Amino acid sequence: MHTRRGLLVGAAAALAVPAWLRGAWAAPHGSALPIPPLAQAGASGALRLEAIDGTHTFGAGRGGRGTPTLGFSQPFLGPVLRVQRGATARIDVQNGLREAITVHWHGLHVPGEVDGGPHNEIAPGATWRPALEIDQPASTAWYHAHRHGVTGPQVYGGLAGLLIVDDPGAADAALPRRYGIDDLPLVLQDRLFTADGRMVYAARGMAAMMGMRGDRIVVNGAITPVAGVPAGLVRLRLLNACNARILHLRFEDGRAMHQVGSEGGLLPRPVARRTLTLAPAERAEVLVDFADGRAARLLSAPDGNSPMMGGMMGMRGGGMGRVGGMGGMGGMGGMGGMGMFAEPEPVAADGAFEVMRFAVEPALAAAVRTLPQRLAQAAPAPRLGEPVRRRRFVLDTHGMMGGGMMGGGMMGGMGRGGMGTMAMSINGRPFDMARIDLAARRGETELWEVRASDMAHPFHVHGTSFQVLTLNGRPVDFESTGWKDTVLVDGTAELLVRFSRGAGEHAPYMFHCHILEHEDAGMMGQFTVA
Ligand code: C2O
Ligand code: CU
Ligand code: CU
Repeated sequence: MHTRRGLLVGAAAALAVPAWLRGAWAAPHGSALPIPPLAQAGASGALRLEAIDGTHTFGAGRGGRGTPTLGFSQPFLGPVLRVQRGATARIDVQNGLREAITVHWHGLHVPGEVDGGPHNEIAPGATWRPALEIDQPASTAWYHAHRHGVTGPQVYGGLAGLLIVDDPGAADAALPRRYGIDDLPLVLQDRLFTADGRMVYAARGMAAMMGMRGDRIVVNGAITPVAGVPAGLVRLRLLNACNARILHLRFEDGRAMHQVGSEGGLLPRPVARRTLTLAPAERAEVLVDFADGRAARLLSAPDGNSPMMGGMMGMRGGGMGRVGGMGGMGGMGGMGGMGMFAEPEPVAADGAFEVMRFAVEPALAAAVRTLPQRLAQAAPAPRLGEPVRRRRFVLDTHGMMGGGMMGGGMMGGMGRGGMGTMAMSINGRPFDMARIDLAARRGETELWEVRASDMAHPFHVHGTSFQVLTLNGRPVDFESTGWKDTVLVDGTAELLVRFSRGAGEHAPYMFHCHILEHEDAGMMGQFTVA
């Protein structure tokens, strides 16, 4: 480490990857972490987004050439929107594409008519002007396309961005807050590229079943980049914006991620984690200490979530079975010609791969060096009271594979291309724009019991944040998990849900699996709040 550190000091404040760093891990890629532009709602609250076609370069190697993408006001992804509690954000969303879109504010507690779900369609060339009254704790939310049936390809193409809610009345001075320096937005995605560098979306057959996954990890639009950070505490706003991949994050050197926030706001106190699982759409704010001056590498263990392996069973059983299983599937993907089941190149014995790197920049002064004991701005513990009713949701991938998953039937089915009639469902019913699945009432607390039997599904509810009561019968500690809007269900989860905003029949709220290929295939329902 001494030699490395000496070299590090020599690398000074260069934002490009120092040559030594590339050599240190002998990896072929890694450009500087792009920091998305910040779009702050001014006094008028006005913000603007334009959905456009673009050409984007993801990095060296595959993805090193420009490839067609989608973005908001830039070629790939969008700016980080910053809105304030107590203010009204007026966002002009212009659709410069030749296809219709919707733009959903994932995590915002706003009424159905401005929520941006499948009913809030924006025709090509049209502009949608929602006024969002922000009234919720400081948190890291996001926005993304949500038109029914094409959410997967549109988000994959790049129609997504981070959205930060600030609470000016309760600023938390104990947390790093210099955007792009010690407060880093990290939009984590995986993408698949052809040999000639074109980004591809191929969600048919197995990829529809498993969800679209790629073998390159992309952070803020760059393949496995490196971030220059000060030698102190750095706040990472992590968003899993993958279509389907569940990330199992850890630092290679074992350093802690002190989680300070979940989807719906800050936790009462930091919780030290060595590993952090983030399913699609989940967010976490963590503090990482780089005071030792050492470079560090963030890894993820592979995603074994598959109906063929009994959900995440392989994961629980430890590395071997699962990594072996994925290897075998990689081979099958190869047979299919797309390599669509290949995991990113492993760098650890358990198959873990690189997500990104951090290199300390001596020229950046550390502003925060001490981990706060408590977080003044923490979202208050729920006082939701006794639920007035229990509702049950069973998430099902059936209907597309006909139960013939094991053995030769799968490959035969794929070969014949016989899975064009897939219909995934909740409570046996695939999503229907014309059917309201349930009606809730404002201010009433409900207990939602969500069951996923065949594989793990990230279950998301629009319009509110909820509390996870139990996972597989075991109580979940609110102090360490906080307010959430998406929860990975691998078995059964019980959620305490309450709505403060309304949603009518013409723009109802959604509940759905956030594996976007499952959502597009019908694993979604809609509800009103009166
Ligand atoms: Cu992030 Cu209904 O979605
Ligand atoms: Cu949402
Ligand atoms: Cu799912």
